[in-house]
Amino acid sequence: MSLRTTVLMASVLLVLLAACSSPPATPVAAPAQTSAAQQAAAAYDFDMDVFHPVVARHGMVASEQALATRIGLDMLKNGGNAVDAAVAVGFALAVALPNAGNLGGGGFMVVHDAKSGRDVALDFRETAPSDASRTMYLDGQGKVVNGKSLYTHYAVGVPGTVAGLAHALQQWGQLPLAKVIEPAAALAEKGYPVSETLAKVLAREQKTFAPWPASQAIFWKHGAPMQQGELLVQKDLAASLRLIAKEGAKAFYEGAIAQKIAAEMAPHAGAITLADLKNYKAVEREPVRGSYRGYQIVTMPPPSSGGAHLIQILNMMERWPIQDWGVNSANTVHHMTEAMKLAYADRAEYLGDPDFVKVPLKGLTSKRYADRLAAGISADKARPAGDIQPGKPQPYESDQTTHFSVVDAAGNAVAVTYTLNTNFGSGIVASGTGILLNNEMDDFAAKPGVANAYGLVGGDANAVAAGKRPLSSMTPTLVLKDGKVRLVTGSPGGPRIITTVLETVVDMIDFGMNPAEAAATLRFHHQWMPDELRLEKGFSRDTLDLLAAKGHKIAVKPAMGRTQTIQVQGGLLLGASDPRNPDGRTLGY
Ligand code: GLY
Repeated sequence: MSLRTTVLMASVLLVLLAACSSPPATPVAAPAQTSAAQQAAAAYDFDMDVFHPVVARHGMVASEQALATRIGLDMLKNGGNAVDAAVAVGFALAVALPNAGNLGGGGFMVVHDAKSGRDVALDFRETAPSDASRTMYLDGQGKVVNGKSLYTHYAVGVPGTVAGLAHALQQWGQLPLAKVIEPAAALAEKGYPVSETLAKVLAREQKTFAPWPASQAIFWKHGAPMQQGELLVQKDLAASLRLIAKEGAKAFYEGAIAQKIAAEMAPHAGAITLADLKNYKAVEREPVRGSYRGYQIVTMPPPSSGGAHLIQILNMMERWPIQDWGVNSANTVHHMTEAMKLAYADRAEYLGDPDFVKVPLKGLTSKRYADRLAAGISADKARPAGDIQPGKPQPYESDQTTHFSVVDAAGNAVAVTYTLNTNFGSGIVASGTGILLNNEMDDFAAKPGVANAYGLVGGDANAVAAGKRPLSSMTPTLVLKDGKVRLVTGSPGGPRIITTVLETVVDMIDFGMNPAEAAATLRFHHQWMPDELRLEKGFSRDTLDLLAAKGHKIAVKPAMGRTQTIQVQGGLLLGASDPRNPDGRTLGY
């Protein structure tokens, strides 16, 4: 069934729902269940309802936690715009999704202002403290010290989330900070029952909290991680949120919260100082832009690698008739994988903080560079990753993270991906704040050629330096047609973010899927190094055999990515939260 038909059916159902005065935005319509999506459903026991997007007319919020989505929706209904709602969701996820939502981390936001047609990218990525250096994670023999960039006070970058959310609200919101923070503060104070998903993550990450009694005091009970159904109350976090509501971001960067973070760091010479916090700034950047089959792609520039490589891969793909080849067919997967490998090889060589290194962004995203790269891709044979070297874009110059998407009645759209890096970040809570601190420093290349927590390698461009922002893969993305937003999407998943967003965009543009179908479709990923093609469980034996015959090293892996996507189509909003996280929720009105 085509998207047009899906939308038509959704419209009819909306009218019927209105006539019955039922709640307006519940899962409706009966879109096609693609064979790829059916494979995913069979492999993962997804409820078949996951193929039905939520449909609404005025505004929509999609996030990884129903409590936060509800808070965002209330903002929209109570006169807030998409930015007000997104900021409220950002604060609420710090409470309701403690493994990834945060005040002590950082991230990126892409905003579309419907009135002016302007798109802005907001960078609130963490920065390395002023004493950071490129050898800080090496021992006397020049070897990387195991875990230092992940689970110590030296893993923590200067957090950017509070500055970023406050900046967005001030620039593009219309509600006061106190109003958008209060629901999050109330939720932290009152508490909520630990979900099955959160209980599982807490149990799995027991080691992360093991060294830190202040963190255990919040997330453990009777000496063990909290269990499903137990009430998670976060009084210190509530107080921190209220202080920010009253004093603004200054409370976090210069006031009482800053003092407590600095006190937490003080015994660890060279870690974050009060001056580092005071000097932190969120930065507005020009989004990176590209086009794909007549759609405009507006996405995150460096220090994220996400936007650059999303566009680079789409540029290579534009020449291939993947509609004819079919979604997730061996031919489609093979060609996309070869393009992914080339892009991730360039990532390792060229990407870093643009305030510190020259990133050849125009070259990487140029169609002519893509022509050159794609010309080397064989239709029959996988190229071993070891044979691929980063290209030469210069001449062409002219799981543990979370994403949420918001669209409002005026057509404003916000895509936010932010993170603590790995689940619960460093595991360290600055005593008395309730705020978990990130371990984003691991996203730097601790040593050229040595893989980080995601198996990613990097070089000089992403070496540690004081005040520098570590390279990211986060890819909050807007797809526009004729200047109007058509898709708002993004995902967690470390390096798999880029390929998850890529496949979501392709599922929508090439295969006409709605956001629910795209979310439920099986995913695959290649990041150049290690040389393995990761596929979610559920691809047919036939497809796997065909890919292996082309020379791909196949690795069947657990679920990848968790998208939160809103599509704007025919005057309606169609949204879906990825079924890989049952706690996610999309709501509209
Ligand atoms: N911390 C994962 C990323 O930013 O890509």
